[in-house]
Amino acid sequence: MDANVTDLSALETELIARITAASDEATVENVRVEALGKQGAVSTLMKTLGAMAPDERQVMGPKLNGLKDRIGEAIVAKKAELAEAALEAKLRAEAVDVTLPALKVRQGALHPVSQVMEELAAIFGEMGFALEEGPDIESDWYNFTALNFPPKHPARDMHDTFFLPADEKGERKVLRTHTSPVQIRTMMKQAPPIRMICMGRTYRCDSDATHTPMFHQIEGLVIDETTNMADLKGTLMGFIKAYFEVDDVEVRFRPHHFPFTEPSAEMDVRCDRSGGQLKIGQGEDWLEILGCGMVHPNVIKNCGLDPEKHQGYAFGLGVDRLAMLKYGMSDLRAFFDADTRWLKHYGFSPYLLPGLAQGVG
Ligand code: DAH
Repeated sequence: MDANVTDLSALETELIARITAASDEATVENVRVEALGKQGAVSTLMKTLGAMAPDERQVMGPKLNGLKDRIGEAIVAKKAELAEAALEAKLRAEAVDVTLPALKVRQGALHPVSQVMEELAAIFGEMGFALEEGPDIESDWYNFTALNFPPKHPARDMHDTFFLPADEKGERKVLRTHTSPVQIRTMMKQAPPIRMICMGRTYRCDSDATHTPMFHQIEGLVIDETTNMADLKGTLMGFIKAYFEVDDVEVRFRPHHFPFTEPSAEMDVRCDRSGGQLKIGQGEDWLEILGCGMVHPNVIKNCGLDPEKHQGYAFGLGVDRLAMLKYGMSDLRAFFDADTRWLKHYGFSPYLLPGLAQGVG
């Protein structure tokens, strides 16, 4: 083939025009094959270089290589342009209008435990309690010793507590059996006055209709210099009224024993069970609802505080049980079965966050 300069520029003009005009990737690919493929026009011209006289090759070599490079670049650029346009079109076609009112597309539901925790955070938040956290895997010291459990206390027994294998120091961590260790963590990191709640998972070797090996607790702690049992009662009554949405409630304290409080009490709430339905705040029955007391001086001392100066109260209760009582669920195990039908029935809209103004539940 006798390639002269005019032929080359005509060929280039034609190829570039076809590349520019192409509206899809297949057309560009056709041009590539016709120009740069094994049998392509440009490749065929390149092959003629070998048979040329040296001085001719010196002129034609750079020209042909230049042509090959420019066509190659134009093809790559066009392909990129088409790919970008295709992506644009796809994104436009799949666009979602995020300004649509979300309440109309209710998808999924909030688990009752999450709902109750939101409610509790709203109620205690209004009462000035800050939210604290602690780990699920605790040392024996935080879970028991610092909370004034004697060394041989039955709660340390293998039958109640999940122990982890011993670490290199021979220490066996536990899955926390209650949220009370967060009392210790808070007192050790923060100077009084303290006013905190903590909510989270707790674990015990137990399983029946009202016990699951993993369950949830809420813990409350107030430490200052003057707080007393009457403050505890006032706080808990305020909480019960807000949570069960009743105007008045009668409670009673029964003496009890917890290692970490002195005196200790269990609090019952007046209720009515007649007619198979539980009504809080009225009736002839009592419902045991929580454990509480004045923080034991030993616990205050274990956290590096002076029990002559600082005192306070604490309380703890089961979040799952609170959910069961308020929303009328009978079997705790269903909470953790991950059955979407159950969740659909008992779940809550994730868009309606509880707050005291609009009601908590
Ligand atoms: N930690 C106790 C339990 O799991 C509950 C409890 C009782 C917590 C009394 C407290 C308290 O803070 O004062 O059974």
